[in-house]
Amino acid sequence: MKNFNYYTPTRVVFGKDAESQVAKLIRAEKCRKVLVHFGGKSAKESGLLDRIYHSLNEAGIDYVSLGGVVPNPRLSKVYEGIALCKKEKVDFLLAVGGGSVIDSAKAIGYGMANECDVWDLYSKKMRPSGCLPVGAVLTIAAAGSEMSDSSVITNDTTWQKRGLSTDYARCRFAVLNPELTYTLPAYQTACGCVDILMHTMERYFTTDNDAELTDEISEALMRTVLHNARVLVDSPRDYTARAEIMWAGSLAHNGLTGCGRAGDWASHQLEHELSGMFDVAHGAGLAAIWGSWARYVYRTNAERFARFAVKVMGISEKAGNAEQLALEGISAMERFYHEIGMPTSISELGISLTEEQCRLLAYHCSFEGTRTIGGFRVLTQEDMEQIYRLAR
Ligand code: NZQ
Ligand code: ZN
Repeated sequence: MKNFNYYTPTRVVFGKDAESQVAKLIRAEKCRKVLVHFGGKSAKESGLLDRIYHSLNEAGIDYVSLGGVVPNPRLSKVYEGIALCKKEKVDFLLAVGGGSVIDSAKAIGYGMANECDVWDLYSKKMRPSGCLPVGAVLTIAAAGSEMSDSSVITNDTTWQKRGLSTDYARCRFAVLNPELTYTLPAYQTACGCVDILMHTMERYFTTDNDAELTDEISEALMRTVLHNARVLVDSPRDYTARAEIMWAGSLAHNGLTGCGRAGDWASHQLEHELSGMFDVAHGAGLAAIWGSWARYVYRTNAERFARFAVKVMGISEKAGNAEQLALEGISAMERFYHEIGMPTSISELGISLTEEQCRLLAYHCSFEGTRTIGGFRVLTQEDMEQIYRLAR
């Protein structure tokens, strides 16, 4: 098992009506003024925002609000948030929404705590030295931002999508009420389930085979998501299934399923370019690319893919040798993606990728030819281009 540093400072308040504790959680932060940050319309329409405003008013907590965060959250909204927070002397950020809203709040927090242009942090020109505290009321189980150290922002001038990961941006608290996810469209529920699976798969597909407990935790998490994602296709208001998925979403990306081994993350890097260029939902983009990545790399450690086939996808170990099992497992995951309404190719996202676009995506993904990606198998710019081509 590799050495590791596991840090999860986020307080999780989980269950029905959990959002009623928001004012108490914020009060404990001893802040002066809060920015309530939210997305398009879902939190307004569900009445969640009104309930939160009401509880802040009752508790005498001063706040301003800023909505309009879109999926694949934009840098321009982050700048707007920083300007508002400076003007209003905000010192705590409350994100009410999904990964996009939480990531936008984290970026505003970085912008407030660092003198430089916040994009310099995401483009890695500068390192941050802090972030304003962030709390989250989660409305979609997916990105895991509520417990992760990451945020991902799209520059709406250059259409580059870049992530920034530091412990400064770990949420102080995450309020997780599975009932808040009842209103999700089926497509978003499915995108979320793919992202949750992928956060574990990115850590599971590794050349390190000696972290048994982490493997077993990961396999249980993935089986739980596979089962409950299927339940939600027919029963979107099944509380137990929503609860299992929501908790899996946080655990899949708080570091637990990566302890003691090196991860891969190539599919995420490939997908970020896709959603940066075409504005597709992150989970759908991952589903579209994963099978092509998997077939391209599985021979690096076919035994690991075979284990995945048997222990996660339920394929009999008698079905063949490691290579055959590996391929069976990949196909089974793709069948699952289709079952829940997800694509397994870029064309199923409604995009006909040209040769030139394959080249451009790989060029961006390799940071203009200056980096490789992937830990399971290291991928060069040419490999990336080839995977985009295969995923068409
Ligand atoms: O804007 P509203 O109206 O709220 O609609 C949202 C949005 O259209 C809707 N939605 C959210 N909760 C809802 C709801 N609709 C009805 N009822 C509800 N309860 O769902 C849509 C998607 O929301 P979004 O926040 O974009 O989804 P998600 O949580 O999947 O976040 C995606 C973003 O997170 C990034 C992705 O790249 C993408 O930009 N990621 C962030 C990570 C992190 N910070 O650790 C890791 C991930 O790998 C990922 O890259
Ligand atoms: Zn993801």
